[in-house]
Amino acid sequence: DGGDDGATAGGGGGDELIRVGFSQLGAESGWRTANTESVQESLSEENGIDLTFVDAQQRQENQIRALRDFVSQDMDVIAFSPVIETGWDQVLQEIKDAGIPVVLVDRTVETTVEDPFVTWIGSDFRAEGVTAGEWVAENHPDAQIFELQGTMGSGAQVDRQEGFREVVGDQVIGEASGNFTRAEGRTAVEAALQAYPDMDLIFSHNDDMGLGAIEAIEAAGMTPGEDITIVTVDAVKDGLQALVDGKFNYVVECNPVFGDQLAELINQVHAGETVPEQTFVEESAFDQTITQEFVDARPY
Ligand code: AHR
Repeated sequence: DGGDDGATAGGGGGDELIRVGFSQLGAESGWRTANTESVQESLSEENGIDLTFVDAQQRQENQIRALRDFVSQDMDVIAFSPVIETGWDQVLQEIKDAGIPVVLVDRTVETTVEDPFVTWIGSDFRAEGVTAGEWVAENHPDAQIFELQGTMGSGAQVDRQEGFREVVGDQVIGEASGNFTRAEGRTAVEAALQAYPDMDLIFSHNDDMGLGAIEAIEAAGMTPGEDITIVTVDAVKDGLQALVDGKFNYVVECNPVFGDQLAELINQVHAGETVPEQTFVEESAFDQTITQEFVDARPY
């Protein structure tokens, strides 16, 4: 339900739409593309929302600028997915002073501002790291692990690392960031193959960097999924294809498709209704027993 406007279409309804400014952090991965599509599809007039969408290209300063623009445009609700956890104190205070409710999406913030956001929706990144770690502990208890980290200081990197290392931290022999992109993932693994010749398992914080790792491993004349076991997070179509092809060994799902839930939260927040402080999206994990049919049916 879109709040107190009822479901009547037309009749100057444009004025009644909730004006939402959404700052997306970037377009770094297949996951992000799917998330943007879901957000843009659901934060629609049909759901009572007039969306202004801005892509920050993985730069915090761009995101802060977009958030300030949203304040000067007097948006009804501001939603954003913060590229890293820290550095938001000032802009969050400005938004608060302007009386605009914030809905946090996907990643999290660390801030000294009190009650900086009304509600958050996203994934349990720490649990994803634990799930990956448990699979490694059970299937490769003696592996020498290289951890391919996401954007340093992002909620997704910090929490996946924490969860993973709680389980198999003593097996990690090296780490480097690939900034959640395929190209930087490849570069990081090329260097790691030189620096850590004993590594035989890569835990990649997302599929895209894992796909870059495949390229680096093949270029070095080795077989991904056999010589080097690869565990990733996301489960986008390209990642699941690598799993079916035997190049990835295990993929923990991070679900990007929560636009409808987000639209509902925004409507509730705007209507002044009570909303949960946190909403975790549902996810699972996959091993090489998934079928090609399953991958083909994957919508993103
Ligand atoms: O914040 C979610 C993470 O960001 C996804 O796992 C990754 O692919 C994206 O870049």
